[in-house]
Amino acid sequence: MQVEQLTYAIGAELTGVNLADAVHDDGLFAEIRAALLKHRVLFLRDQNITRAEHVAFARRFGELEDHPVAGSDPEHPGLVRIYKNPEQPNDRYENAWHADATWREAPQFGAVLRCVECPPVGGDTMWANMVLAYEKLPEYVKAQIADLRARHSIEASFGAAMPIEKRLALKAQYPDAEHPVVRTHPETGEKVLFVSAFTTHFTNFHTPERVRYGQDANPGAGDLLRYLVSQAYIPEYQVRWRWKPNSIAIWDNRSTQHYAVMDYPPCHRKMERAGIIGDKPY
Ligand code: SIN
Repeated sequence: MQVEQLTYAIGAELTGVNLADAVHDDGLFAEIRAALLKHRVLFLRDQNITRAEHVAFARRFGELEDHPVAGSDPEHPGLVRIYKNPEQPNDRYENAWHADATWREAPQFGAVLRCVECPPVGGDTMWANMVLAYEKLPEYVKAQIADLRARHSIEASFGAAMPIEKRLALKAQYPDAEHPVVRTHPETGEKVLFVSAFTTHFTNFHTPERVRYGQDANPGAGDLLRYLVSQAYIPEYQVRWRWKPNSIAIWDNRSTQHYAVMDYPPCHRKMERAGIIGDKPY
């Protein structure tokens, strides 16, 4: 297997490897896992694998989970269909910087995403290194956010366009989760900036040490959250991947965020994502 780094910040392309082999080859799988921890997102071309092989490869990292809004392949539970078609031009929910499923108590470990069909041009996906985003923060901001916690919501994102009863039912089933603003990567010990488009507000900002007058909390807390969320937008922390059918991305959802660029006219874009269950951030 050859590993070619794609930017200084994040991402590497793997060649000379077929992911179907890594289902049974422990040595190969260990090499891929180590590369994932190092580069945070891995890319492969020409992976003509079956859905069963896709699922079996992802299962080597852990159990898979379905998505409450996007459906899964009926024959392969855990393989979520992210399908866009010309009949749904307003279905735009991916194009915001996020880590997957942070509205769960235990957001995903990572995912294996395969392109089934894509526009001839456009529809790329971008990833940002959120360890670097944390590292590069000014020290006074690091001190300010060290003990902060924040709420993450499915209601305010996937639920927002639903009729109210459906939205409330979604929220009842998936109540908002609270996570540290700076999480610790459970395998590498690195600190990760962990707020995104799913984050609605800080939950413990309004203390006498932080808030002298009302303005410090409102708009002060919102301004700080917007600043933190905007760190993923910095190009120096990013990599951008152009899809072709049978291209695959594997990412560490604990240390990255991603953004599916919706710059293509209404046409088919079919992606299938095996999302791997993670653990509770600390
Ligand atoms: C996602 O947000 O997990 C999907 C990314 C993509 O469709 O490119």
